[in-house]
Amino acid sequence: MLSAAYQYGLRPILFALDPEAAHNLAIASCQRLSNSSTLQAIARSTFHYSDSRLSQTLWDLKFENPVGLAAGFDKNAEAIGAWSSLGFGFAEVGTITAQGQSGNPQPRLFRLPSDSAVLNRMGFNNQGAKAIAEHLQSYFQKHSLTIPLGINLGKSKVTELTDAKFDYAESFRLLYQFGDYFVVNVSSPNTPNLRDLQATAQLSAILAELAPINIQNKPILVKIAPDLNDADIIEVVKVCQEYAVAGIIATNTTISRQNLVTTHLSITGNPVANELGGISGQPVRDRSLAVINLIWETTEGKLPIVGVGGIFNAEDAWQKIIAGAAIVQVYTGLIYKGPMIIKQILQGLVTKLEAHGLENIQQAIGLAHR
Ligand SMILES: Cc1cc2nc3c(=O)[nH]c(=O)nc-3n(C[C@H](O)[C@H](O)[C@H](O)COP(=O)(O)O)c2cc1C
Repeated sequence: MLSAAYQYGLRPILFALDPEAAHNLAIASCQRLSNSSTLQAIARSTFHYSDSRLSQTLWDLKFENPVGLAAGFDKNAEAIGAWSSLGFGFAEVGTITAQGQSGNPQPRLFRLPSDSAVLNRMGFNNQGAKAIAEHLQSYFQKHSLTIPLGINLGKSKVTELTDAKFDYAESFRLLYQFGDYFVVNVSSPNTPNLRDLQATAQLSAILAELAPINIQNKPILVKIAPDLNDADIIEVVKVCQEYAVAGIIATNTTISRQNLVTTHLSITGNPVANELGGISGQPVRDRSLAVINLIWETTEGKLPIVGVGGIFNAEDAWQKIIAGAAIVQVYTGLIYKGPMIIKQILQGLVTKLEAHGLENIQQAIGLAHR
């Protein structure tokens, strides 16, 4: 009923708007929700779904359910109080860079409805670590969160690649007290050469720089691109294990333009193949799943994986979990399906557990490999 209301009511209105304007409207609404306990109670009664079989403890953090908000939606951590009332089990804010930056010129966000996909080249537009830390400080003086908060860190565009480690470290220091887990994002296609940081030497240098700041031993994860070849993924995994990284987020958006139905972007009129940016949603789903399988096999299931890429329903989430993801994240699915998607996935996961005779979600993690 509510999902039909989104599909036939709200979505056509939002999709009539410029994608970034629609996003800003969504964030503004969620910001209101974040600041109002009355609105949160109303949202909770509609969107929240609870079943003890979906809860688990990971990195000493309680995840009431395994479905989280992916990075890039709440870049400035402006709506952190909204995400639990919409049913998410955790939320990841950012990407945040040490320097505030405006990102790439607009238009930089495009819908590809025929592919259930989005193309974005936002370029880490965000207010910067210091401003966001100040805002989080004042938010936490009045409110608290009921779900784990992840903070995703990236490199400022103005910082040379060789100095990247200092940039990540500065943001990590400024935001340290506010995050339950942190993400080293080295996989966005929209900051020039950022993905070169996935090379083992560069990644090692960043992780080594963060280690002494991490006095409370908070979980640090690495987010990787789907476009790395398998040998490079195995190398990244080895570095992550060497530096006792808490987990890997697989994956970010893809620069591949293969198998797209969409040929041209309606806003620019240009062939999609000529437009810079990363594709999310359905086209990245299978590669993201393959990467999860590869990480699981490489680590023999010992390194927690956060599965993300093209999750639109419970089946998509289930496939990622049985491939080895302990928890999953959603972004593009939220755009196409609306906030009811979370409850739908959670209800569907419970049905899957029952159908497989499993007692809880932990038993499903990596099931495909057993
Ligand atoms: C508009 C947009 C902006 C994004 N920004 C970020 C970002 O700042 N940092 C990041 O790590 N991932 C970012 N992502 C990638 C998502 O977190 C996710 O990894 C990817 O979209 C695949 O998931 P999905 O298919 O559910 O969207 C962004 C995705 C979209 C669509």
